[in-house]
Amino acid sequence: MTIEFKPLSFSLGAEVLGLKIKDSPSKEQIELVRAGFLKYGILLFRDQHISREQHIGFSKLFGELDQHESLPRDRHPDYSELLMVTNEPKPNGMPSDSKYTGQVWHSDMSFTLAPAMGSILRSIKVPSVGGDTMFSNMTLAYEKLSKGMQNLISDLHGVHTSARKIIDLSQDRIDETKKLIPPVAQPIVRIHPETGKKALYIGEKVKSFVGMTEDESKPLIDYLCRHASKPQFVYRHQWQANELLFWDNRCTMHLALGDYDESEIRHLERTTILGTPSGYVLQ
Ligand code: SIN
Repeated sequence: MTIEFKPLSFSLGAEVLGLKIKDSPSKEQIELVRAGFLKYGILLFRDQHISREQHIGFSKLFGELDQHESLPRDRHPDYSELLMVTNEPKPNGMPSDSKYTGQVWHSDMSFTLAPAMGSILRSIKVPSVGGDTMFSNMTLAYEKLSKGMQNLISDLHGVHTSARKIIDLSQDRIDETKKLIPPVAQPIVRIHPETGKKALYIGEKVKSFVGMTEDESKPLIDYLCRHASKPQFVYRHQWQANELLFWDNRCTMHLALGDYDESEIRHLERTTILGTPSGYVLQ
């Protein structure tokens, strides 16, 4: 069966038609998926009734998978390649560690030295309404900045942290996070290693610019985040169960919306494909 791409929005994203992941896609099909991934930034695969092993196997066709060492609490207990994104309480009744995962604009693993190339998120249970994910095209957002602003930010580096709303704010937990995830500096403008295009690399996990205070940095960080998340750069995905979304973290950022009834389960699982080395650790 031939693969087709049906655009999801003006700015980015396409649905992939004619591919069943469980039927072990051919090499040619995977090459087409790769090309579509580079063209559209996000690919959607609907109605994919697959197992965890098939999710992992499909993801490996696109690169080496992150074992999520920096997020040990969020890993699936039996599959280190799978990061849980769930509000399902723990067996002891405590809230899930990943209840608020992704609820700020970000690019996956930007706080590490090999930020994610791609992520493949599979929906297992979704709320009856809400809990959408928004994505922004950071290449387009960069290109729409004035030349003056492009010049101003060209040499800036952002300090990325793993910041997210966490359930347990005990000192132990804060120390654990600091040890596992020290702040990492990344360029604010990155060149996509495959398309060669420049893209903004910013988000709400950027706390300051290297060499500047948080107070001095904040207005420009806020401006760039606001600019990049304007509706004309964004696709909003309304989840159904059994979907996979495959996005390119090098030229998109995303935000999970917490706008759903918390008594309903939202359970997704993500593989993360390692990217090329980038950035440096700040002491
Ligand atoms: C993520 O940031 O990887 C999770 C996104 C989501 O839960 O919608």
